[in-house]
Amino acid sequence: MRVLLTGHQGYLGTVMAPVLAAAGHEVVGLDAGLFADCVLGDPPADPQGHRVDLRDVTAEHVAGVDAVIHLAALSNDPLGSLAPDLTYDINHHASVRLARLARDAGVRRFLYASTCSVYGASGGDDLVAEDAPLRPVTPYAESKVRVEDDLHALADGDFSPVFMRNATAFGYSPRLRADIVLNNLVGHALLSGEVLVLSDGTPWRPLVHAADIARAFAAALTAPREAVHDRAFNIGSETNNVTVAEIAEQVAEAVSGAKVVITGENGADPRSYRVDFSRFRAAIPGFDCEWTVKQGALELADAYRKFGLTREDFERRFTRLAVLRAASESGAVDDTLRWRR
Ligand SMILES: NC(=O)c1ccc[n+]([C@@H]2O[C@H](COP(=O)([O-])OP(=O)(O)OC[C@H]3O[C@@H](n4cnc5c(N)ncnc54)[C@H](O)[C@@H]3O)[C@@H](O)[C@H]2O)c1
Repeated sequence: MRVLLTGHQGYLGTVMAPVLAAAGHEVVGLDAGLFADCVLGDPPADPQGHRVDLRDVTAEHVAGVDAVIHLAALSNDPLGSLAPDLTYDINHHASVRLARLARDAGVRRFLYASTCSVYGASGGDDLVAEDAPLRPVTPYAESKVRVEDDLHALADGDFSPVFMRNATAFGYSPRLRADIVLNNLVGHALLSGEVLVLSDGTPWRPLVHAADIARAFAAALTAPREAVHDRAFNIGSETNNVTVAEIAEQVAEAVSGAKVVITGENGADPRSYRVDFSRFRAAIPGFDCEWTVKQGALELADAYRKFGLTREDFERRFTRLAVLRAASESGAVDDTLRWRR
């Protein structure tokens, strides 16, 4: 397949592109490159790609494409809360526009990177499955719900949107993010000797390795239409349904000498959900996630040591909000996050 991969220069896209290429697909990227320089380790070999803002995509970008994997977004709660209007412009409106262009161009499958954050304040210990009520508590999560709704309305006999609700990712990617929970806690533990938890540690936070997400998307790309057409799937594994305090314990075991410190200073986090991941396993026989939280913590600690993670990089280069703030303050991007140059 010729696959348009938006967000190919992000944390997940950088891991996913080679997985798709190895499966025999021709990958064409599309990314504004906001985090293109956020590299830890050897620079990744990006596929051919368009450097274009999602809001400026035209029919030309989707011409001749068999499938779209849409990852590009302002990708977490702090970014969404920084500028809710921008989050809706980019994550919601531009995504739906891309899907319309794709459908008009005859693209048959559209894999959308949604998130388990759509369950938001589901709370409790019961597992939430895809049909559970959605309770987004941030503009980021709300933007994902709106896209799911609008793409669902576009589904027809020739166009199959698929909603991939990923758990929170972890693991090494050459384009690192340190602002997601496991990656953050491992980095902090190595740099300071403390596994620092600012919440009270009780929220459930399902996790999934970036490589397992990549394998799930690759599987959904070629699955029989009837298995995935217009369906939502939670992506992850029940083994990795963990509380923040449990994540911290795993990190302390992976980084010798590190001590868990739960300050609780940010109070209770309303985002808490335990997730049922069985629907995707049933739709894609043989698929399961391979990585545990502990393995991911060990992998990250090795990578951070090997590539010499510094505090400066940890807090600035690999923290999405800090990167965008710096780009804005230096004038590299305007107040709508478009490049000036
Ligand atoms: N990482 C996670 O824990 C996680 C979990 C669930 C869902 N997701 C979703 O997966 C997708 C990828 O996440 P990620 O962790 O790789 O995020 P990321 O921030 O590392 O990458 C997002 C990419 O999108 C690009 N982008 C942002 N705005 C753009 C615009 N206006 N035009 C063109 N490109 C733009 C960025 O340049 C970046 O390369 C996102 O949609 C995110 O919401 C991520």
